[in-house]
Amino acid sequence: MENKKYYITTPIYYPSDNLHIGHTYCTVAADALARFKRLCGYDVWFLTGTDEHGLKIEKKAREKGVTPKEYVDEIVSGIKDLWKLMNISNDDFIRTTDERHVKAVQKIFKKLYDNGDIYKSEYEGWYCTPCESFWLDRQLVDGKCPDCGRPVQKTKEESYFFRLSKYADRLIEYINSHPDFIQPVSRKNEMLQNFLLPGLEDLCVSRTSFKWGIPVTFDDKHIVYVWVDALSNYITALGYLSDDDSKFKKFWPADLHLVGKEIVRFHTIIWPIMLMALDLPLPKQVFGHGWITFDGDKMSKSKGNVVDPVVLAERYGVDALRYFLLREMPLGSDANFSNELLIKRINSDLANDLGNLLSRTVSMIDKYFGSVIAGDLCPAPEDDDLKAMGSTLHEKVTVDLDALKFNEALSEIWQYVGALNKYIDITAPWKLSKDEANRDRLASVMYNLAEGLRIVGVLITPFLPETSLKIKEQLGITDDALYSWDSVLSYGALKAGTEVRKGDPLFPRIDIAKELEYLEKILEENIAKAKANLASSEEKEEPVSQITIDDFMKVKLITGKVIACEEIKNSKKLLKVTVDAGEESPRTVCAGIKEYYSPTDLVGRTVVIVSNLKPAKLAGIMSEGMLLAAGDGDLVSLLSTDKDVPAGTPVH
Ligand code: MSP
Repeated sequence: MENKKYYITTPIYYPSDNLHIGHTYCTVAADALARFKRLCGYDVWFLTGTDEHGLKIEKKAREKGVTPKEYVDEIVSGIKDLWKLMNISNDDFIRTTDERHVKAVQKIFKKLYDNGDIYKSEYEGWYCTPCESFWLDRQLVDGKCPDCGRPVQKTKEESYFFRLSKYADRLIEYINSHPDFIQPVSRKNEMLQNFLLPGLEDLCVSRTSFKWGIPVTFDDKHIVYVWVDALSNYITALGYLSDDDSKFKKFWPADLHLVGKEIVRFHTIIWPIMLMALDLPLPKQVFGHGWITFDGDKMSKSKGNVVDPVVLAERYGVDALRYFLLREMPLGSDANFSNELLIKRINSDLANDLGNLLSRTVSMIDKYFGSVIAGDLCPAPEDDDLKAMGSTLHEKVTVDLDALKFNEALSEIWQYVGALNKYIDITAPWKLSKDEANRDRLASVMYNLAEGLRIVGVLITPFLPETSLKIKEQLGITDDALYSWDSVLSYGALKAGTEVRKGDPLFPRIDIAKELEYLEKILEENIAKAKANLASSEEKEEPVSQITIDDFMKVKLITGKVIACEEIKNSKKLLKVTVDAGEESPRTVCAGIKEYYSPTDLVGRTVVIVSNLKPAKLAGIMSEGMLLAAGDGDLVSLLSTDKDVPAGTPVH
């Protein structure tokens, strides 16, 4: 007997300030599939979530002066709101900061270590922080990250390594013998040719140079590499290695990981090898979808060319946006977004074709039959094609959805919507209504329109769940059995006697010129903001370069004793500190620590100063050196010595 369970996942999203419609695309597509499978009677588990660790987050939180957890908490709540707004029917939401996840990842890491698949060594190479990826010299393109083209940092640190190389042959064999595993096929070929066949290097899977991650239990100066942490979410969310692993037993292996094309590599190389090493079955399919681009460029916050799904959904309706995303682009390919395309689609397909069809049909039934659907009282040959189309639509849509061809499924449905509209023109009900002798024929025409709308209403449920319900209401269908997925397997289930109810138009028409002007303005503002941000972050983010011991020795650090200290009145930050540094006369040093220390705290303290810093005037006072302190933001602590040493003692 067929196993009627279906486990589908989206990637877990990085908590960036705002998710854009690119992210929304993936989640909406997964949602449509989850809804479709539920309608087909599957026991569905649909997982999404957030990927919250890593250097990038640690840095951003520091910039904002909050803890990483505080930083992600706020953003994650916004992401959850977005999914609620977009009508996403996920069954669970995993955060990599959830205790259930952290505990399980620690056990996974330990298990891999105990099995000998993870070992300790030293990593020397390059790291791309935005991509959280390691690269070797030979992999860089013009010295930059081959994935995103941004600068990389030289990294040398003690690390744990995962034996990817040990499993490479097994993975190649698996991919070749499971043609559905990586889809579309072009991505499968890319993985084999570009990564697997040239040979895999063992993967560095721990970091020591930052803290915001899951600590390795048996060596807590290390944290687990973000991708190992993140990929595990697909099983930790099901309770793998927890006290209750019933969901894991029921739903693993996943039926589908839907991911963007740039992360197919992680999902089809690192992830399956992790699973092999854990002795677990592999997901049935990883599908790499294309990107929504803006003028051919990947949308990205740093460029400002992002389109905010909240603005669009609030302005035009959630279903309008869902329709556009799923109708416009084949899942595997990139597709260009433009506001004009969006509005044209809404006006033509939704407001005109579907919206008008419903309002005209309901109005005519209201006008000619006092709102009651009289039945197919007088069928005619001119109905045959329409009926045939209606009765085969279920199968076509099912086949398309099973193949993840959302756009084709919608295109089939809209061809039928088009045929129904044409049927109104051909049958001309307003003419039939003029002669009482045609009343039964008019009833049939109304019946075919209403039945057609029922079929459309049911089949759009996975894509446009709210609109589907509105159609059901206006058609006056109260029996859910007449609106189930399988109720449209054949034609003609709509009952005579059903009473339609006029409602609001499904999709109001949009004034295209006015809306384009509005959306363009938002875009221009975003691009300008992004440019300003980029300029200021480029100033801030100088890559950390390595220095030699000779460079370091150029900095003369010495101890000193604070003999006097006073506030500098016209400065919010500075204290004027007089330091005996064992020299002929005391030095004056202006220190930016007024918010953290009062002058009386300092007098008598031993401090460490940079003694050969070029003197500079600060707030009108010549400062001759710098006091060393740890931290910024909330916590600042002056460096001192743990034994009493004479003023002027060198520090190195
Ligand atoms: N955190 C990782 C995924 C870890 S999964 C174990 C990540 N996060 S992300 O937020 O950067 O991206 C999440 C998904 O959004 C990816 O599948 C990515 O392809 C998708 N999209 C982001 N921008 C996109 C477009 N412009 N168009 C379509 N999808 C794109 O990667």
